[in-house]
Amino acid sequence: MSKKTLWGSASAAYQIEGAYKEDGKSLSIWDNYVRIPGKTYKGTNGDVACDHYHRYKEDVKLMKEMGLQIYRFSIAWTRILPNGRGEVNQKGIDFYNNLIDELIANGIEPAITIYHWDLPQCLQDEYGGWASRKIIDDFTNYASVIFENFADRVKKFIVMNEPAIFINLAYLLDLHPPCDKDPVKALNGYHHTALCHAKVVNLYKEKGYDGIIGSSIAFGPTYPASDDPKDIEANKNHNDLHVWWEMDIYFKGEYPKYGLDYYQKKFNAPVIEDGDYELLKSAAKKNDFIGINYYQTAVIAYNPEDGVGSEGGKMNNDGKKGQFVERGIPGIYKSIKNNNVEYTDWDWAIDPDGIRYGMVQLKERYGQPIFISENGLGAFDKLEADGSINDDYRIKFISDHIDAIKQATKEGVDVLAYCTWSFTDLLSWLNGYQKRYGFVHIDFDSKDLTRRKKKSYHWYKDFIKNNG
Ligand code: BG6
Repeated sequence: MSKKTLWGSASAAYQIEGAYKEDGKSLSIWDNYVRIPGKTYKGTNGDVACDHYHRYKEDVKLMKEMGLQIYRFSIAWTRILPNGRGEVNQKGIDFYNNLIDELIANGIEPAITIYHWDLPQCLQDEYGGWASRKIIDDFTNYASVIFENFADRVKKFIVMNEPAIFINLAYLLDLHPPCDKDPVKALNGYHHTALCHAKVVNLYKEKGYDGIIGSSIAFGPTYPASDDPKDIEANKNHNDLHVWWEMDIYFKGEYPKYGLDYYQKKFNAPVIEDGDYELLKSAAKKNDFIGINYYQTAVIAYNPEDGVGSEGGKMNNDGKKGQFVERGIPGIYKSIKNNNVEYTDWDWAIDPDGIRYGMVQLKERYGQPIFISENGLGAFDKLEADGSINDDYRIKFISDHIDAIKQATKEGVDVLAYCTWSFTDLLSWLNGYQKRYGFVHIDFDSKDLTRRKKKSYHWYKDFIKNNG
């Protein structure tokens, strides 16, 4: 393992902060969405969440005691620019300044995610948010406010978190706000995220800040279902429509040809204006790392003309295992169950070697260092009568993945940082508070949101102490 790999953990503003309308913060699309009946598991919301906004010192203390080297968190756009643009809310800036200073004083490197899904509602109302190119100027301005206030002390920036997830769940699957099913908006929206990333990377470099910058993609490497040439071709096409589609435009500044031909023919989208490729390519060259959030792999098979579509089944957001459904595009591909691996209670494939396999692919395709910005296990944890939480399954999950990452480094992959998801338990957007990821258990039923160290907390602490 490269000596400079930093061991850390991650979070996102909406999932931990709470204080959803305090100190001048305006409402985000998530603050409103969670109030629509039936949208989230049992109507859970982030109004209070972990109350990290008021308890960040206690959380940083736990990080320090663990020996965490890097902590990735996101900024809530609505706290620092309540109108989306214009007047800066000093109280929002103060909160993040305090958090950053507290981290640094405790020997933990802060890493900022600029956008982790909580768009100001006012921008959604004004011009339709991500579906409009108007977002580009507002986003770039928002990022510039972050740089001006925090880049003196923060040296690692992740511009976007999982753009394909927030776009596709909003514009294809009706699962994220604004729930506006329209494949054209999905394709244009994704293109706009890439343009925002590019503008912000260029801005950061032009201003000469002395840190590094990239974006994080939800990376799910795939395997063909068999050695049947039809499955192998289906897998290749699937990746050109999704995996490489999502990555190439960020890290190469172009779309895979097969994907572009397919989407242009079928939807006449995305709309690519003069100068877009120039901008995207210029930023791709300056990008410092590829961020990946790795949870699972998929298996891809040929899908006959009368085969499954992208609809059907529901997403497992209640943790009742066994709800996996095949989905795909008739005549092209479908994703099927992997019988060689175990699945979590939320039907996510557990495949540690997949991260090695995927990172080696990324090294060959882009040749850039990798920042693992999320990796972790969502599980039901049991709080024992004596206050202990014995999450041996999480220890196994993380240590198996770290072993695979070490193997990848032996194969030449440069890993800048590894952040688990997540430090404390937090709100899982659609799955409520019962799907837990943290090293620190939060008793969401108790009034004071008691923090307790899980067994995995002590394990990661020892692991970091011994430098892996
Ligand atoms: C990623 C997100 O998609 O995965 C996180 O960046 C999210 O915000 C995490 O919480 C786990 O997903 P889920 O749906 O289990 O909460």
